[in-house]
Amino acid sequence: MKKFDLLVGPVGALATCSSGSPRRGGEMRELPLIAGGAVGINDGKISFAGKWEDVSDAQAKERIDASSQTVLPGFVDAHTHIPFIGDRSHELIMRFEGKTYMEIGQAGGGILSTMRNVRVTSEDDLLKSARKSAARVLRHGVTTFEGKSGYGLDMDNELKQLRVLRALGEEGPQNVVPTCMSAHFVPPEFKSKREKFIELITGEILPAAARDGLAAFVDVFCEKGAFTIDESREILSRGKDLGLKTKIHADEIEDCGGALLAAELSCHSAEHLLRAGDEGIEMMAERNVVATLLPATAFFLRKPFAPARKFIEKGCTVAVASDLNPGSSFTFNMLEVLTLAVFGMGLFPEEAIWAATLNAAYALGLEKECGSVEVGKHADLTVWDIPDPLHLFYPFGEDPLRTVICSGTVAWSRA
Ligand code: NIG
Ligand code: FE
Repeated sequence: MKKFDLLVGPVGALATCSSGSPRRGGEMRELPLIAGGAVGINDGKISFAGKWEDVSDAQAKERIDASSQTVLPGFVDAHTHIPFIGDRSHELIMRFEGKTYMEIGQAGGGILSTMRNVRVTSEDDLLKSARKSAARVLRHGVTTFEGKSGYGLDMDNELKQLRVLRALGEEGPQNVVPTCMSAHFVPPEFKSKREKFIELITGEILPAAARDGLAAFVDVFCEKGAFTIDESREILSRGKDLGLKTKIHADEIEDCGGALLAAELSCHSAEHLLRAGDEGIEMMAERNVVATLLPATAFFLRKPFAPARKFIEKGCTVAVASDLNPGSSFTFNMLEVLTLAVFGMGLFPEEAIWAATLNAAYALGLEKECGSVEVGKHADLTVWDIPDPLHLFYPFGEDPLRTVICSGTVAWSRA
């Protein structure tokens, strides 16, 4: 007889999101569902995923009945700026008054204002704040997330942010992927000698982050006013040589060739891409660069959404992430982000679900560990009070999440 630590079943509609490769093109419209499904869990991993009738007589230490519910893999948020600290709500008004995101940044607000807050915050207090962020995204179904440095902008404070991410991952419940993004903005002390800042990143910060296993990825804000194509190439290449995976904030505000650079360097993922041109999109598809689209940022900055349909038509792997940060996308709610992906950016509901689960796991290089309900993967599940996945979006603006399971443990549950 089968034995489980935890058995989730029967499940009204189980969307496993299982697939041997990332879903692209027309395949993203198919979302296989098991009606009357079940998920068996042992030692934090999935040991059974299939029909309830095959395990209905199993022994389980604990069981969650989801017979009129929908179960999905936990969301993978492949792009956040956790850890951060401080409030930038006044920038919202500045933008409504006509200032652009970059103007606010160039005038010492934006990223640099969060940098000032992060620099004066102790590691312990930054960890406390990051824990709160992690708890807030958990409560919206995020069981794995990426976070980054980029608000320290000097050796000590960049490594402080990365250590906070390591501590967060170690204490759980979520799985945390750390990215070194020292090339987020040039800090004031290097304003008149930016080449020295690039030297600091390539010569000291990245090697330290890689040596101590503090980062899995390197990222660059490749944009007019932040880092040029040549600077971005240099920093990403250095990260790659040090064994880091590469991702890039590309063509967020203007098309400055970021998507093409991502293709040239075969980056793991290129993100934002609001302004990416056809050639960049085609090259990304050819070179297998995941397009991680961030519709909440477009919404929050009131910019046109990324051309999501084009990315899908051209055969790119498309992921959707939150870009959670205090300036350009202050939301902890992944379903809200997906709602924007559907109604704003034009993804079909099934496409949005692939984009936040298995495809997002590919964006982080974690496709063997999470993103789908498959035997051997982390038991990361969300249980929703809806009859089928389409009801995530119909009606919209609801909060139907009931339970979040991280590595086989109930990590959040509606009271
Ligand atoms: O992805 N564009 C650069 N970085 C972030 C915003 C960070 C901030 O404003 O604090 C982004 O939008
Ligand atoms: Fe970002």
